Amino acid sequence: MNVAVFGAGYVGLVTGAVLAELGHRVVLVDVNEQKVEHIMAGIPPIFEQGLSELLTRVRGTDRLQATTQASQAVASSEIIFIAVGTPPLADGSPNLEYVHQAALAIGQGMVSGASYVIVNKATVPIGSANLVELWIEDGWSARYGTKPPADLFTVASNPEFLREGSAIHDTLYPDRIVLGADETWAMDRLTTLYQPIIAQSFVAPPETPRPQDRGPVPVIKTDRLSAEMIKYAANAFLSTKISFANEMANICERVGADIQTVMHGIGLDTRIGPKFLQAGVGWGGSCFGKDLSALIYTAKEYGYQPRLLESTQEVNKDQRLLVVKRLQDELKTLKGRRIALWGLSFKPGTDDLRDAPALSVIGELLRLNARVTVYDPVAMTNIQQQYPDLDIRYSESALEALDGADALVVLTEWDEFQRIPLATIAQALTQPILIDGRNLYDPKEARHLGIRYRGIGR
Ligand code: UDX
Repeated sequence: MNVAVFGAGYVGLVTGAVLAELGHRVVLVDVNEQKVEHIMAGIPPIFEQGLSELLTRVRGTDRLQATTQASQAVASSEIIFIAVGTPPLADGSPNLEYVHQAALAIGQGMVSGASYVIVNKATVPIGSANLVELWIEDGWSARYGTKPPADLFTVASNPEFLREGSAIHDTLYPDRIVLGADETWAMDRLTTLYQPIIAQSFVAPPETPRPQDRGPVPVIKTDRLSAEMIKYAANAFLSTKISFANEMANICERVGADIQTVMHGIGLDTRIGPKFLQAGVGWGGSCFGKDLSALIYTAKEYGYQPRLLESTQEVNKDQRLLVVKRLQDELKTLKGRRIALWGLSFKPGTDDLRDAPALSVIGELLRLNARVTVYDPVAMTNIQQQYPDLDIRYSESALEALDGADALVVLTEWDEFQRIPLATIAQALTQPILIDGRNLYDPKEARHLGIRYRGIGR
């Protein structure tokens, strides 16, 4: 099929590249010329496992193009994805300006005689499909001076559940595919597009092998509103699960229980499940915070106070700063103390700093007049470019960051950190204080080595 994807960010680029790999002809449309050039040269503009290999392969087949010219891409496409950013505004509602611009461009690029399924893949507020429809009509009217013919296009919702760091894997081997369309022909077209994934009939790429016992992928076919709501409900539930684990960790600490064992103990109940119960410095990333705020905003718009969701948010806010409280417990004043931070990205496997707990921790430490040294295996360039005014020291390696440090705080569970022996850490620090925000190390071993070790919930 001929597919256009507006927005060559995380979701758009990965979706486009995977669809091209499956045999579709895909044009990525992005306003950023440099990004387009990079993609055409086979260089991924983001750090994502397997993406470089995938781009090199599909580029060689001419099935993937990238352009800044929307109209050509639109005219000949059967399916057009909108996967542009929807960054949060100050009040928690998402900024739909990029969606608006994409929809206008789509309306202007369509030609009569064809039929288009326009798919919201960006996470947009419940009911946005209606807005997108109107904006597309505006685009068409601006070009042709009339209303678009009936049956020229329909807007569908197909939310995305990929995680950063395993984005290609999640796209090829999803737990489910959600299709929200109010017209049968659109539903049929989307089903055809995803058929290789639904049936798992494609040849698995060497760098992203198919997991064992992978059967056909369940497809939820529903109305647009329910599809939009599934995305929000999924992210709200996952972030609530983590905030729940963090709340349990705080209670475990007080009564003297071990959160790791407690969560293992509840996770074996198949009604609960073992995933997303890892207590730590709180959740971050480009989706959870933004989507939770948007859902809370929507609920309030309709006069409903979503108390559970607000608590999920509150618990997370406090959890991020728990490591700073731990430092104050150990060091008392933090003025002039040098604190080493390991890990900046919101989770391992990505250089993404969006809503990263590390940023909250750095902000709080600087506010308390501590001196901060940071190290991350992949996010160093990002922090320097995105936050050039931060008054912090950057290290070339994890161990170098410990030079002259009064304490170490671990914020991201990169494998690299786990491989460093605790004895080495103890020797390198001025004072052997280790605040383990991700429960990476064995508390007993740490204490045996004389380290003043503080984990989360144990
Ligand atoms: C998330 C959703 O998982 C994905 O389905 C959606 O499409 C986008 O948002 P992502 O942001 O890539 O994906 O990260 P994810 O792996 O879900 O982790 C989110 C945050 O939760 C990270 O900061 C991570 O450290 C934290 N987390 C996760 C925990 O603190 N504990 C856990 O048990 C799991």
